[in-house]
Amino acid sequence: MMKSPATLVATVALALTTALGACGDHGALPDAARADAGFPDATIPPPVGEFPAGFLWGTAIAPYQVEGGLHASDWHQWEARCEVCSGEHADDGPDFWNRYEDDLANAAALHTGALRLGIDWSRIFPTAASFPASPDLDAVRRYHDILAAARAHGLEPMVTLHHFVTPIWLHDLEPKTAKAGWEDPAIIDAFAVWADFCAREFGAEVDWWITINEPLAYVAGGYLSGAFPPGAGLDIDRGILVVMNMIEAHARAYDALHAGDSVDADADGAPALVSIAQHMSAFRPATPGDEESERATEMLRYLLNRIFLDAVVYGALDRNFDMDTDDAGEQVDPMLAGRLDYVGVNYYRLLLGAYIGENNYPLIGLPFGNDLHQQGVDLPSTDFGWPIYAPGFREVLDEAAVYGLPIVITENGLADGDDTLRPRFLLEHLYELARAIQDGLDIRGYYHWSLIDNFEWASGYCPRFGLYHVDFESADRTRRAGEGAEVYRRIIDANTVPVELYGVYPRYPLPSTLCPRVGL
Ligand code: BGC
Repeated sequence: MMKSPATLVATVALALTTALGACGDHGALPDAARADAGFPDATIPPPVGEFPAGFLWGTAIAPYQVEGGLHASDWHQWEARCEVCSGEHADDGPDFWNRYEDDLANAAALHTGALRLGIDWSRIFPTAASFPASPDLDAVRRYHDILAAARAHGLEPMVTLHHFVTPIWLHDLEPKTAKAGWEDPAIIDAFAVWADFCAREFGAEVDWWITINEPLAYVAGGYLSGAFPPGAGLDIDRGILVVMNMIEAHARAYDALHAGDSVDADADGAPALVSIAQHMSAFRPATPGDEESERATEMLRYLLNRIFLDAVVYGALDRNFDMDTDDAGEQVDPMLAGRLDYVGVNYYRLLLGAYIGENNYPLIGLPFGNDLHQQGVDLPSTDFGWPIYAPGFREVLDEAAVYGLPIVITENGLADGDDTLRPRFLLEHLYELARAIQDGLDIRGYYHWSLIDNFEWASGYCPRFGLYHVDFESADRTRRAGEGAEVYRRIIDANTVPVELYGVYPRYPLPSTLCPRVGL
């Protein structure tokens, strides 16, 4: 069925704009947010089963958010240009590039056995001339050191090849030398070459690969809200082009990783396991029973959770974003099908589908369209104003299970600077995960976002997602374990959710900080 792509994608603009935390000051929380969620006070849920043998307990980080010094990247250019960003700089971050030994020791102290991290393309190939024959050998050596140190600390690495950041020589924001980045199909070949390089260079140390982090969130930030480079606002045509190029690039990188990485680093019979990290949300209609609201909700679910996965699992590419693949040029593409070994799921929150009407553009003026508190939804929220909704995690897991592949939770977490929310958040979300496994879902691992506080993109350093909090004012960027770290370790040690801990954390208090959300 034909429908204007703009009709569908404008709906996504609102949802993901808030998903990325890019929506103006939050202001005071209304009374509705004061309610507790989940199990009522002091109610202890029934015990739940153990996590399976070999379950990957992990944490996650991304290069630009933790390393510092990534000056050959579009995000570094963007920091100087972005008018809606916090004004803070990634260079003032946790300095993982130099302090990785401490961070890996801290990860091991949680008794995790896995770490999701990234290798940055612009770090290894800072110029077009360097690509692909002349990598920065110091940078390559440092990444080898980091991977070796991770293994020495008993951490199985999972490596992301693109986490929102692109080299300037491919994505140049300077008008005189402009390069179109993911809008230019030339990036498809380049990304496959980058994947081939990583497979051959790092394949002996790495078995778990993520090609692209959150393709739809990348588009929402760069082309809908404008809080990410290139800073386009509701430029739907360019956004669609980027999604299509990312789908093709993922499929080509999948092939390159499998061709280039033949070393089974952990001797489990699988030298390379490749996926994306897919941002998946739970959805509800803003007005249950209202036809437009229900339709908007289904569109959002399809576009944000499914379209990319459908393309790389089934080969069914919905080129005009009309929620079906029966139009000309949309037949199953064997070059896309079967390009996913597991489903990498990033889960953060619940979003609402609202009335969209025929003309969507007035919605540009309604940036709070998905702020659940403004719509009377009674859920606790994080320092970032995001609602906390663990049952939605189960909904998303059931949706991911449809693909018949193993599932790995590649990110799940919250902004909580004083850890008053994180302990219960961990209990509730991991309880849902354990229950899903008990019900037969094939879930292989969980990576908490994040190991350490880091640079939260346009929002800078206020939102603190770390299990370890970083003192960004101190010269040595001191790390300190929050209470959530202790709860996470206890869950890992028990290999189940010790339900008696619900009694220790019976409710979510109001967040003590409200971080400004920047953007539109
Ligand atoms: C991204 C991370 C980000 C986190 C919290 C995810 O969408 O992959 O880079 O820090 O969410 O916003």
